[in-house]
Amino acid sequence: MSDNLDDIFTDDIKIIAEELEQFYEDLEGKTILIAGGRGFLGTYFTNVLIKINEKLSDPLKIILLDNLITSKDKKKYLDSNIEFLEQDISEKFQINENVDYIIHTASIASPPTYRKFPIKTVDVNYQGTRNLLDIAKEKKVKSMIFLSSSEIYGNPEIFPTPESYLGKVSCIGPRACYDESKRLAETVSILYFQQYEIPIKIARPFNVYGPYLNLNDGRIIPDFMKSAIEDSEIIIHSDGTPTRSFCYVSDAINAFFRLLFSNDNGIICNVGNDEEVSVSDVGNVIEKIMEVPISIKMIKSDDPNYTKDNPQRRCPDLSLIKKTVGYTPKINLEEGLRRTYKWYRSNLI
Ligand SMILES: NC(=O)c1ccc[n+]([C@@H]2O[C@H](COP(=O)([O-])OP(=O)(O)OC[C@H]3O[C@@H](n4cnc5c(N)ncnc54)[C@H](O)[C@@H]3O)[C@@H](O)[C@H]2O)c1
Repeated sequence: MSDNLDDIFTDDIKIIAEELEQFYEDLEGKTILIAGGRGFLGTYFTNVLIKINEKLSDPLKIILLDNLITSKDKKKYLDSNIEFLEQDISEKFQINENVDYIIHTASIASPPTYRKFPIKTVDVNYQGTRNLLDIAKEKKVKSMIFLSSSEIYGNPEIFPTPESYLGKVSCIGPRACYDESKRLAETVSILYFQQYEIPIKIARPFNVYGPYLNLNDGRIIPDFMKSAIEDSEIIIHSDGTPTRSFCYVSDAINAFFRLLFSNDNGIICNVGNDEEVSVSDVGNVIEKIMEVPISIKMIKSDDPNYTKDNPQRRCPDLSLIKKTVGYTPKINLEEGLRRTYKWYRSNLI
């Protein structure tokens, strides 16, 4: 990895693209549609494909769909192989071109935003997924990946949690609009696989973080980084004991691409890092990597829904993804947080 910390994103992109070299030949002249292409993971997917295009004689065409509900960035990629369509995927729409691959990353994934727009969250996860599955069917795509979520397990009781665990989820609680609609999106994806042989792969990401994750997103790492950078403090809205397993973005993107390019249609895989840490530990690691002292406080949130139905532990069983695509996460929490912090410092402040 590069020591030039301003170049962390560029470095991630170069490494992911190089690690996917075995698939380049199959990508010559193909078209990839990325729904939610302006978001955090969409930005990584897009830039890896731009990097891969440097090596192809017949470049990939990349179609980005996004309604910009959480990513406000309208600036255009200055690349004639990229087309951006401002589109709500839960509305009916058409794609004129042929499509070979679909990467479905569109959702309202930020907890404060999905609590603000619960019905839109259900719409993008269910109707949006269904609309993309219809496009996959019409265009006879070679492969499609849907990014579901570890949230479909709710507040699990088995650790590490395997894909076979059915979940412990409230269908009416404050997180239900996200969790339950992701579950229904998995159901409809598997039905399209069974009834129409759509070559779908479902990934269940566990807390992915890194450059380009919006600092105001409300997820734990951007939340902690923002208050550590701006106010030299971290506020934990619990007793600090709930655990999470955080996965640095370059590891996750590598796994998603490998799943997309695999022949394992109808598969459902956890994607993440199985290094389980408490929320307090995350604060302590951020304190360690920052160049200035910070204080860590535990304060109950004013929002009664903030911790309601919040999982106490989260840790993926990665056996299946390891066996399926030979995936092993490479970046540990300290290194990932160091890269993320340096990137925020040099790009956002
Ligand atoms: N990052 C993680 O830790 C994580 C964990 C579990 C699941 N996921 C899933 O991975 C996917 C990508 O997550 P992310 O972290 O990049 O989120 P993100 O919020 O950064 O990106 C999602 C993108 O989808 C777009 N979008 C939302 N509704 C849309 C609609 N109706 N039509 C078109 N575009 C729409 C948003 O504007 C945004 O650009 C999401 O489906 C999310 O649920 C992410």
